[in-house]
Amino acid sequence: METISIGLLGLGTVGSGVVKIIENHQDKIMHQVGCPVKVKKILVKNINKERDVEVKDILLTVEANDILDDPEIDVVIEVMGGIEDTKNILLKALKNKKQVVTANKDLMAVHGAELLQAASQNNCDLFYEASVAGGIPILRGLVDGLASDRIIKLMGIVNGTTNFILTKMSQQQRPYEDVLLEAQELGFAESDPSSDVEGLDAARKMTILATLGFSMNIGLEDVKVEGITNVTDEDIQYGKQLGYTMKLIGIAQRQEEKVEVSVQPTFIVDSHPLASVNNEYNAVYVYGEAVGETMFYGPGAGSLPTATAVVSDLVNVLKNMRLGVNGKGAIAPQFKKKLKEPDE
Ligand code: NAP
Ligand code: HSE
Repeated sequence: METISIGLLGLGTVGSGVVKIIENHQDKIMHQVGCPVKVKKILVKNINKERDVEVKDILLTVEANDILDDPEIDVVIEVMGGIEDTKNILLKALKNKKQVVTANKDLMAVHGAELLQAASQNNCDLFYEASVAGGIPILRGLVDGLASDRIIKLMGIVNGTTNFILTKMSQQQRPYEDVLLEAQELGFAESDPSSDVEGLDAARKMTILATLGFSMNIGLEDVKVEGITNVTDEDIQYGKQLGYTMKLIGIAQRQEEKVEVSVQPTFIVDSHPLASVNNEYNAVYVYGEAVGETMFYGPGAGSLPTATAVVSDLVNVLKNMRLGVNGKGAIAPQFKKKLKEPDE
């Protein structure tokens, strides 16, 4: 029986989860795609690093081209992070007709339109479910599940690290620096955690959500951003006494023909469902004209939850390969449609 070969870029928090899920859930994956799926090669920075996952039949390399130029590799999964170099690697993967799955919101928020156009031109899928809210299938929920509705408002706790920090500061009165360190040790934080605590990570995710939810090309420069670095323990405890919980909230809403997007620390009244979203959990509240209120909830960061979204994308890519419909996937067209023409 033919085996599908995967090239994995990155073997950190998410990458090691991807290897584990492909191995441990092989039966379920095979049942859906009709053949075995195997990680053949993995790109890392340091080959000699100790890993918490078994990689004995997998070739580790520091050369991206070992993967990109390998004709046996059908799908490239990018979980290494980075923007410009990573974009060029993925453009080459697409040019070489590799299907692509990524968890990289930094990349998708900045170069999503260009990458999706390249994917479509090469008849390839480029799926990025894990880029927003970790294990919650929010992009498919928004684009496919609410395909018939007109979205009025999106509100989200979309950064696990800051939610973890605010939860522990509020419930255990622990100091900010101490909890940030724990979030880093647990693999929730970005390699540069300033993007978490200063709100940029959440802003990137809101850009992706708003672009998909409102079918408009919303750029990072359109998002007003304030992180949690100025939030004090006194603020949190004062709010608590009055029945409010401090959360880093992203909001995107229609204002006539425009969409306004912002990320900021916000007091949420304790009776609101977002107030009880704790630790690294995320939630996206979606108000649709017809459906009314919905809320998507689950783990927003961490190895296995995030890897679940990545491998589910992989399964969808492989199903499309069987049907011969790659490049015509559900998530791509809305992003692509609003791509600016070169002379605009
Ligand atoms: P990580 O733990 O820092 O792992 C990064 C991996 O990529 C490491 O294995 C590293 O190699 C490799 N790598 C990085 N730069 C490289 C380069 N230039 N060349 C070769 N290999 C390189 O990161 P992570 O937390 O797994 O996150 C990966 C991506 O997923 C990021 O885009 C992140 O934003 C996104 N994401 C993360 C989470 C989460 O909860 N962590 C959730 C959703 C999305 P070495 O191991 O040799 O150092
Ligand atoms: N650093 C991110 C967070 C990882 O804390 O939410 C998940 O995207």
